[in-house]
Amino acid sequence: MNTEKKEFKKHLFICTNTRSDGSGCGPKGADLIAKELKGFVKSEKLEGVKVTRSGCLSLCDEAVAGVCYPDKIWITNATESDLDRLKEMLKS
Ligand code: FES
Repeated sequence: MNTEKKEFKKHLFICTNTRSDGSGCGPKGADLIAKELKGFVKSEKLEGVKVTRSGCLSLCDEAVAGVCYPDKIWITNATESDLDRLKEMLKS
């Protein structure tokens, strides 16, 4: 095993999981949100900012869920209509 300390200005995890009963963040458009935000980071060339699809964050009843470090900001009930706010959060 190798370990390496990496520090991001912002690292946003977006849950894209679909639960076995068909619920969760996946069916609520999480993949589109993650894809849009990843594209935004790339197109804006935001240094030190990363968006990663994640598994379940245990906030399934409030899907789409995410968390941003190091700010420790949890995101719940995100929809496509929140993309502008999420982009602003990544830029700030
Ligand atoms: S499926 Fe997204 S938080 Fe559980």
